[in-house]
Amino acid sequence: MGSVIPGLYKKDPDARKKAVAEASGLTKDDLRALFDPALQDPVLEGMVENVIGSFHLPLGVATGFQVNGRDVLVPMVTEEPSVIAAASKGAQMARVRGGFTAWSTEQIMIGQVQLTDLKDPAKAAVAVNLKKDEVLSLADEKDPLLVKAGGGARELEVRILEHPAGTMLVVHLLVDCRDAMGANAVNTMAEAVAPLLEDITGGRAVLRILSNLATRRLSSAKAIFPKEELGGDEGVSSILKAFFLSQADPYRAATHNKGIMNGIDAVVLATGNDTRAVEAGAHAYASLSGRYSPLTSFHRDGKGDLIGEITVPTAVGVVGGATKVHPAAKASLKLMGVTTARELGEVLASVGLAQNIAALRALSLEGIQKGHMRLHARNLAIQAGARPDEVDVLVDAMVVDGDINASRASELLATSRSRATIKRI
Ligand code: MEV
Repeated sequence: MGSVIPGLYKKDPDARKKAVAEASGLTKDDLRALFDPALQDPVLEGMVENVIGSFHLPLGVATGFQVNGRDVLVPMVTEEPSVIAAASKGAQMARVRGGFTAWSTEQIMIGQVQLTDLKDPAKAAVAVNLKKDEVLSLADEKDPLLVKAGGGARELEVRILEHPAGTMLVVHLLVDCRDAMGANAVNTMAEAVAPLLEDITGGRAVLRILSNLATRRLSSAKAIFPKEELGGDEGVSSILKAFFLSQADPYRAATHNKGIMNGIDAVVLATGNDTRAVEAGAHAYASLSGRYSPLTSFHRDGKGDLIGEITVPTAVGVVGGATKVHPAAKASLKLMGVTTARELGEVLASVGLAQNIAALRALSLEGIQKGHMRLHARNLAIQAGARPDEVDVLVDAMVVDGDINASRASELLATSRSRATIKRI
């Protein structure tokens, strides 16, 4: 599979689908699942309550990604213009030096059991540790399928938390979720072990729920971005200055990370995963040091190129939930050639880094509006009725004049068509 498809954005939708299918080996049925928005009622009914319809967003493909030496076409669902183009730009820049190197931790999620009304919290903590094996076996009994797949409860962590209302114990149940996101498995296990923990500690179990701060399920990616792609030495310096602001100022860090999540969320959504879980995890992880910080980091290497790195929690799965029910989610995973949660997490980290460098480059070199306005002009040209072969001329004319609006698009289309008619005569 190749992920470079030159001029994909210039093709009409049918030609684009054909090119993506040829590059990825997707079948006609897969394409139908991706592009035909009419989901069957039973699928929708099975997903949420009180269904009365479905809501469609565009699914686009980011090109040029290479992750650990493998070409990956990345499906992205987003309402925001420029996100897919920016991810592709980031991927293309990384590709010059071999693409993204990505790696990850084990796929462990944390279930929390809160224990209150304890006579002696420190003694209770020791008691839990002594009965660890019993608690872990009870958790495993609740999910034989996960255990059969090589996953299951791995470890307990006991934390004593002080609060004005009283000291409490929080027991962390660490569960290897393998290729599932694992929320259901972990919640079931947490509820199952709570009575045993009450017996052990003499306390009262209140909350028994997964934590979305998935610090045991992290994905990282690294890439070298050549300075020639970034406006040379001066461009690299500007990008570094922009990055330093995100380290110095949480107000900027929030926007910096929002840009990263533009890419990550779009892939999480395309694969039927839980965007809110990944968002919550990312922002909580960004605050872990006690100060809200950027999820990426950058430095210049000896040749003057920019090295970028990202680490982000990736609570996602490729089995279970909507990933296996929603036809477009299944086709999205197939398009990427991703078969494990680990691989998906590594693609997510790479997309986040690509998105971030593309945004930093645009912001610090040319400002973001230029690209946005070009896309806006493109939308206006299409709305005015321009055919694919007419769009670029109209866009160029509007951008050069700096006059980008619907009536100008219609006017330019009329002029260009009458010129074409005169030429034919
Ligand atoms: C817009 O959706 C995202 C950006 O604001 C990200 C950034 O500023 O880094 C462009």
